[in-house]
Order: sequence, then C-alpha cells, then structure tokens
Amino acid sequence: MTADAERAEAVPALELSALRFSYPDGTEALRGVDLRIEQGEKVALLGPNGAGKSTLLLQLPGVLRGSGTIRVLGEVLTDRTVKAIRSRVGLLFSNPDDQLFSPTVLEDVAYGPLYMGFPPDEVLARARRALAEVGMEAFEARTPHHLSLGQKKRVAIASVLSMGTPILAFDEPSASLDTASRRELIQLLASLDRTLLISTHDLALVRDLLPRSVLLVEGQVVADRRTADLIYDADLLEAHGLEPLEFRGAEAPQTAVGESTAAR
Ligand SMILES: Nc1ncnc2c1ncn2[C@@H]1O[C@H](COP(=O)(O)OP(=O)(O)O)[C@@H](O)[C@H]1O
Ligand SMILES: [Mg+2]
Repeated sequence: MTADAERAEAVPALELSALRFSYPDGTEALRGVDLRIEQGEKVALLGPNGAGKSTLLLQLPGVLRGSGTIRVLGEVLTDRTVKAIRSRVGLLFSNPDDQLFSPTVLEDVAYGPLYMGFPPDEVLARARRALAEVGMEAFEARTPHHLSLGQKKRVAIASVLSMGTPILAFDEPSASLDTASRRELIQLLASLDRTLLISTHDLALVRDLLPRSVLLVEGQVVADRRTADLIYDADLLEAHGLEPLEFRGAEAPQTAVGESTAAR
C-alpha cells in the first residue's frame, strides 16, 4: 500500500468531538458526544426515545448545528464546507414524507445530483441507477405520495444513493414497516457497500447487519461495543428501558450452547 493510500485509510469516516446541542426551548439533547467511525464500518445507534439519536443524526449533514466538532472524512463541518459535506454524508429521515417533495419519483431521486451541479445526462443516469439499486425503476413516473410506506422508503434511499455519498445515516429505517417490507429493507441495507450509521430499536436488524453498537442515553454515549456483546446485555439495556434480544442469533435455538460459544 502506498503512503497516500494508508493515510486515506486512516481518515475516519466520521469523528464527533464534544458535540453538544440544545433546542431553542432549552432542552439539552446532546451533552458532549465523542464518536469515531472508521470508513466502511456499520454501526448501530441505540437508545431509548428522547436519547438524542435523531438530533445526533441531524448534525451530520448540518441540518442542526451545535457546538463541538464534526469531521466528515477529515473535513470539519462549517458554513463553508456544509455543501461539500452533504455530498459525503446522506441522511435518511425516519418518515420518508419528510424527504420526498417532488411531483414524480424520478425528480425526487434526481434532486440531489442536480443540486450537486452534475450535467443533465449525468443527473438522469445517476437517478436511474439509484432507482435500479433499490428496485424502484418501474416507478419513476409515479407520484411519491401515492406509494406504500415501503416503496417510499426505497425511493427516499435512492434519493440519497443518487448523490453517491460514501456515508449513509438512517433514522429508524425499519419503523412502521410490515414484515415483508422490513425484510426487503434489511436486504437492501445489507447490499449497501458504504459506511453506515443506523439509529434503530430493531435489535434483530442490528444483530444481522451492524457489527458495532453505540448506546446513547440522555445525550451521552454510555456504551460503545461489539454488537454481539451489547445487544444481549440485559442489565445494561433494561437499565435504559430497552429490551435485549432473547436468542444469540438465528442459529442459536438449533445449535448446542458449547458449539455456538466456540464459533464465536
Ligand atoms: N424540535 C424540538 N424542540 C425541543 N426539543 C426537542 C425537539 N426535538 C427533540 N427534542 C428533545 O430533544 C431530546 C432528544 O430528542 P431526539 O433526538 O428526537 O431523541 P431520539 O431520536 O433518541 O428519540 C428529547 O428530550 C426531545 O424531547
Ligand atoms: Mg428519533
């Protein structure tokens, strides 16, 4: 590996230092968050309602701005860099209706690359590629607001994928989905070869997709561990109003305890 490549590899995807944020009414939502996520890592952001997960994710593309420092691929987020940073970190809101606003699916998915200044043919190529990636290419002329929730989520994901952002943040992506749509979404998330930070209460999703878990409570990181250690820690999770997973992975009920322990 060349020295340049090694340096590039060492730059974390995200680095948050002493991040604090209060809403105008005085609610302290983030109370000094330090978090470093390497390029290519897939990380769960866990925590009870009101812990500050959404507030934290909204800081990444500079939708909300607090104090402290955010570095995205080494670059500090400032008024001057915010536009460039939005081409590196894409945020998926929990409710796709907050993300989709165009009369057609294609226009919604084309909006990002258009905003980034790509020429029209490149905008169209990116939008169509992103729609194909989420399996929604047949819906490009449809109105986003008439789609099912699962379809809207796919389009919202395409609207971020079309920008080619190497880092994706998702706020409760599987919330309110039916079983089939949830399973499709998990397959889609698994196929994304990017740095992922996903806020969720869906511990089965976390177990299957995200090797590292960060637990946020009252605006502070209280645990940051391997998912396999954290999501079965009943004492820790229950202390913060969360339910641990019952089984150690899908294989656990069929596997002898000694074997599955040895495999880990
Ligand atoms: N717009 C807002 N104005 C005032 N307080 C807010 C606002 N949005 C969220 N909060 C408060 O900030 C804290 C963190 O909220 P949030 O980031 O939504 O948590 P989570 O996503 O983990 O449920 C909570 O106390 C919540 O009530
Ligand atoms: Mg939230």
